[in-house]
Amino acid sequence: MYDFKPDPALDPAETHRQLCEAADALTAGEPDAVANMANVAALLWDFLPDLNWAGFYRVAPSKDGAGSELVLGPFVGRPACIRIPFGAGVCGAAAETRATQCVADVHAFPGHIACDAASRSELVVPVLRDGAVIAVIDCDSPSPARFTQADATGIEALAALLADRI
Ligand code: SME
Repeated sequence: MYDFKPDPALDPAETHRQLCEAADALTAGEPDAVANMANVAALLWDFLPDLNWAGFYRVAPSKDGAGSELVLGPFVGRPACIRIPFGAGVCGAAAETRATQCVADVHAFPGHIACDAASRSELVVPVLRDGAVIAVIDCDSPSPARFTQADATGIEALAALLADRI
């Protein structure tokens, strides 16, 4: 049994350090990308308070094979939209710009894609391998302005750890 126990009294930076440490321990030496993303989605859900969705979109071929887009990966939360074109919504913006998107009010974000009507704020971090986006990590919260710079920095460190493990 894995028994990672986040302490709610910790400050966010320490929470993220422990989350990364747990993710490292769970994914080290495991080559299966789906298993690693599934476990990390569960860790995000366990460690970060006040989320209603946490998981991955992977860069994968579009249905017609003509290009690539974001395709739903392992997650915790309500069923979500499956395919997101580059540039669309918060996830597509992160993939297109290769930059973290920290959105305090999703209703004010042009083109935001509402997968769960409860979402009020969102943090999306691209996972880069050799400079190219291979996935994004998406966290949604029912509270406005839930995500801080500490969350962005922490999830960026997680993305760097996972770059050759997913
Ligand atoms: N809100 C996202 C879509 C994914 S869901 O939040 C799980 C977006 O605007 O890209």
